[in-house]
Amino acid sequence: SSNAMWGGRFAAGPDAIMEAINASIGFDRRLAKQDIEGSRAHAAMLAAQGIITDSDATAIREGLLTVLSEIEGGTFPWRVELEDIHMNVEARLKEIVGEPAGRLHTGRSRNDQVAVDFRLWVRDQCDAVDGALVALMTSLIGQAEDGADWVMPGFTHLQVAQPVTWGHHMMAYVEMFARDRARFADARKRMNESPLGAAALAGTSFPLDRHATATALGFDRPMANSLDAVAARDFALEFLGAASICAMHLSRLAEELVIWSSAQFRFVTMSDRWSTGSSIMPQKRNPDAAELLRSKIGRIFGANVALMTVMKGLPLTYSKDMQEDKEPTFDAADHLMLGLAAMAGMIADMKARPNDLRVAAAMGFSTATDLADWLVRELGLPFRDAHHITGSLVAMAETKGCDLPELSLADMQSVHAGITNAVFDVLGVDNSVRSRTSYGGTAPENVRAQIARWKKDLS
Ligand code: ARG
Repeated sequence: SSNAMWGGRFAAGPDAIMEAINASIGFDRRLAKQDIEGSRAHAAMLAAQGIITDSDATAIREGLLTVLSEIEGGTFPWRVELEDIHMNVEARLKEIVGEPAGRLHTGRSRNDQVAVDFRLWVRDQCDAVDGALVALMTSLIGQAEDGADWVMPGFTHLQVAQPVTWGHHMMAYVEMFARDRARFADARKRMNESPLGAAALAGTSFPLDRHATATALGFDRPMANSLDAVAARDFALEFLGAASICAMHLSRLAEELVIWSSAQFRFVTMSDRWSTGSSIMPQKRNPDAAELLRSKIGRIFGANVALMTVMKGLPLTYSKDMQEDKEPTFDAADHLMLGLAAMAGMIADMKARPNDLRVAAAMGFSTATDLADWLVRELGLPFRDAHHITGSLVAMAETKGCDLPELSLADMQSVHAGITNAVFDVLGVDNSVRSRTSYGGTAPENVRAQIARWKKDLS
């Protein structure tokens, strides 16, 4: 049989495969709450403008609440042949309230309807992600507070570079996740305009009050161009862009946790709650949550590319291609939220191993730069010469199989006669980090100041 919505024009119903490729109800039912919110705002506005009667609007608005409670209660009769969330809700509304249901779609199209639903959904996600980011930042700050002055190796090229503090390393991620928050907030601000009332694409001859529906739905204003309103999906792409960058940050931290929890590093012990054992190797404690997090990030990047690809080259305005905007966005949002929660939990529960960190911090001639700086400061050498002298001392220590502080004063003086015993003060890792007091440097006093700043910012 032909479709109830456009049966006037159609004699035959769709092929079964057409129905399968066309239907979005399998996934866009997640927009139910937003769809009903949008419809309720639209109905109230139609009545306020005298386009439908107050009693029809009341019937529609109350009927929609019944529909919502059926959906939330799991009793809603979903029907694939009704394609999508919009038609499922409207058809059920008709069963519940009868004739007034047919007036709801006045001055509206599924094109502006889906645009408003999806915008509301993505906007909610921005808020949810923001909360999850705050929780993760709070976990990181907790770690930083515990170990503001624990010394650990800082790396470049994953080769030992200079000693840094555990707190400084944790706070580096706090900075990254704070920028992620700002990106989501910025995207949210820009997406917070209402497409409702753009109708199919051209606007409508009904005297709609688009400002009223925009306000009712928490938007800052209606979108100014009806063609843009139904065609735009850059709001979802901005969400996915911000999600991708945030996911990239998560994957870097996840990778560090995997490395740090290995027997070769022993920087941290991951809690049992985020680890698994092996069915054959009894000693095993695998950082599975971190590994899964590292890899799930791919789905988020994939979603970004998928939606970019859906949208590229689409002529204005709406094309059915755009129905493919939802699944990748839902999947990315779900996995980002899961990843943020898992990371917050892992970070809160992990135990750093300050002694192992400290031992590792001294390996690999990590204070060579301190030695070179000392030669500049105390002996007035040009930095390039100091670099060369220090390089010779590192080579000497390497040949002797010892660390820099284990060279004797005589060894040192054989390379440069001006070196004195005072040099040994700067070769210790604690002195090294304590000396890095430049703004943004790793000195524990700096780290504590940053912790205080961020705690204030987040409270
Ligand atoms: N299910 C559709 C989507 O997700 C709703 C909009 C349909 N509009 C249309 N003209 N077919 O994009």
